[in-house]
Amino acid sequence: MTLPIRIAPSILAADFSKLGQEVRDAVEAGADWVHLDVMDGHFVPNISFGPDVIKSLRPHTTAFFDCHLMISPADPYLEAFAKAGCDSITVHVEAGPHLHRSLQTIRSLGKKVGVTLNPATPLSAIENVLDDVDLILIMSVNPGFGGQKFIPAMLEKIRAAKAMIGARPIELEVDGGITAETIGAAAAAGANVFVAGSAVYKGEGIAAYRNNIAALRAPAEIARLKTAAKDGRK
Ligand code: DX5
Ligand code: ZN
Repeated sequence: MTLPIRIAPSILAADFSKLGQEVRDAVEAGADWVHLDVMDGHFVPNISFGPDVIKSLRPHTTAFFDCHLMISPADPYLEAFAKAGCDSITVHVEAGPHLHRSLQTIRSLGKKVGVTLNPATPLSAIENVLDDVDLILIMSVNPGFGGQKFIPAMLEKIRAAKAMIGARPIELEVDGGITAETIGAAAAAGANVFVAGSAVYKGEGIAAYRNNIAALRAPAEIARLKTAAKDGRK
């Protein structure tokens, strides 16, 4: 199943004093999704924003709100994030003892269901929930901060995840250290959704963001074409 290449700017790197405009500008500049990094200062060593901020951003765009919960526990807050207007809600496998229950809850709230793993967590942790998710997010940095370096060992994990997904219509997303230099390898490994914080919110305003997004999209599309051509030759 070939899903489109999607660029998902993380507003973690945006100017928090004018978030509504930052979201509108990124979408106007060509962003496919808006990535919302929620941090609790407990599951990860940083605090960002919660459902009320997301709710206040919702009227600014109709773009897909891709919510990445770095909170533990997540279950008591899922309904609030659904009501805030998230389109997908992604939970960490490390965030609680009952992953399957969390995924069922997201499904019952009518949202796309996402699951994610820290770099050190093996893919086998999601083997038994593959039919319960719409999105798998491979963390390519340790969650908590923007602007970190892509961990190269995660390329093999993306490849393995792609193989595990098989023909299922699951979005394969990668998050952390995505730049114009790293995105091609991640796309060649099989990812189709690319979160980018600092690489998108560089400079200021629509024109800068448009260039930044285009500079990410091009190598991803090229890598995908090359991979398809190589597969065709096999
Ligand atoms: C990390 C977050 C990422 C982060 C990405 O905890 O989940 O989404 O904002 O930032 P960059 O693209 O700067 O690595
Ligand atoms: Zn994220």
